[in-house]
Amino acid sequence: MAKYRIAWLPGDGIGVDVLEAAQIVLERLAFDAEILHGDIGWEFWCTEGDPLPKRTIELLQTVDAALFGAITSKPSDVAETELVPELRGKGLVYRSPIVRMRQLFDLYLCLRPCKAYSGNPLNYKENIDLVVFRENTEDLYAGVEFFPVPAEIQDVMEKHSPNFSPFKDLSGEQYAISCKVNTRKASQRIVRAAFEFARKNHRKKVTIIHKANVVRATDGLFLQAAREVASEYPAIQWEEANVDAICMWLLKNPLNYDILVAPNLYGDIISDLCAQMVGGLGFGCSGNIGETLAVFEPTHGSAPKYAGQYKVNPIATILSAKMMLDWLGEFEKAQRLESAVAAVIAEGRVRTYDMGGNHTTLEMAQAIAEKL
Ligand code: NAI
Ligand code: MG
Repeated sequence: MAKYRIAWLPGDGIGVDVLEAAQIVLERLAFDAEILHGDIGWEFWCTEGDPLPKRTIELLQTVDAALFGAITSKPSDVAETELVPELRGKGLVYRSPIVRMRQLFDLYLCLRPCKAYSGNPLNYKENIDLVVFRENTEDLYAGVEFFPVPAEIQDVMEKHSPNFSPFKDLSGEQYAISCKVNTRKASQRIVRAAFEFARKNHRKKVTIIHKANVVRATDGLFLQAAREVASEYPAIQWEEANVDAICMWLLKNPLNYDILVAPNLYGDIISDLCAQMVGGLGFGCSGNIGETLAVFEPTHGSAPKYAGQYKVNPIATILSAKMMLDWLGEFEKAQRLESAVAAVIAEGRVRTYDMGGNHTTLEMAQAIAEKL
């Protein structure tokens, strides 16, 4: 029997290309796993009205970890039935399978390491080595939204600020509400995850990102929880930063930063900012991590225009597979894989189009496999 059970979720478009690349390097590493294919994405929305079918959820309940490619999602301004006429009358609502996985399995940590591998022509600066800890289940992404705003919510709004209400004379169709919901528990655990990582990996500093001076209730709670957790780690240097200011400082002096931790929305934005500094979508790896399951994925989407062309950079996915190996405790294999990626980047012989070359997805994977 294989040592691990891994759910293999290619999804749509280039998700298929990049997972094939990941398979090449994992096989070369002799990763002892049973690979179990799972259905996810656009095709299953179109054919079954569910982009995350029940059988995939059941599969995820039985595996040690999952590697996920990318999905094509429904554009927010297009009605369900416009795209898939067969769904007409069924009353189905499209829900992002990624957000659902995060919520169903409480994958509370979105981990995004952003490292500038030496020799990458896309590096913003050499030696950048940032790790973003993004809360992954709540905040503005909690899914508590109103449009049109129902009468009972309008009443609450008016009672909340009777003297100053820009919404006062508006009908429910003229405004929309997305609630930012933050809990003490989720705030504490994301900050604890960041400090634990800093402690175990001898990292030098944790930066806590917020906007508590303006968003007083939710970010205030986040910051308070963060300070409590930080006080448990006297040996680790930490600081607080406003989300807007940190974007400027990160661009100016990325080497001054190390571990960054933030609520969901700010973390999402900061992650992409940091990823771009180390090469962009072809290098953005991530893990959605919970207590019992973790789903690793490149942060890019399905890039439909490149689907099946084996043109895109698989490094984001291969580094996500490296993160999966770390999470499973396969540190030696993870280290070897990262060194192989670093060696191919440093050599500069094999490069995909985003790096200025013309090698294919699978040629890049082969080049990495040969260094293992
Ligand atoms: P995208 O990330 O799929 O692609 C945007 C562009 O980035 C591509 O056209 C390509 O030029 C470049 N790119 C992406 N991945 C690359 C790689 N590995 N190597 C080199 N270049 C790469 O974003 P887009 O086009 O906005 O979205 C396409 C679909 O993917 C949409 O349906 C969107 O909703 C979905 N999406 C899914 C995500 C996921 O599965 N986690 C994340 C982001 C978008
Ligand atoms: Mg994002």
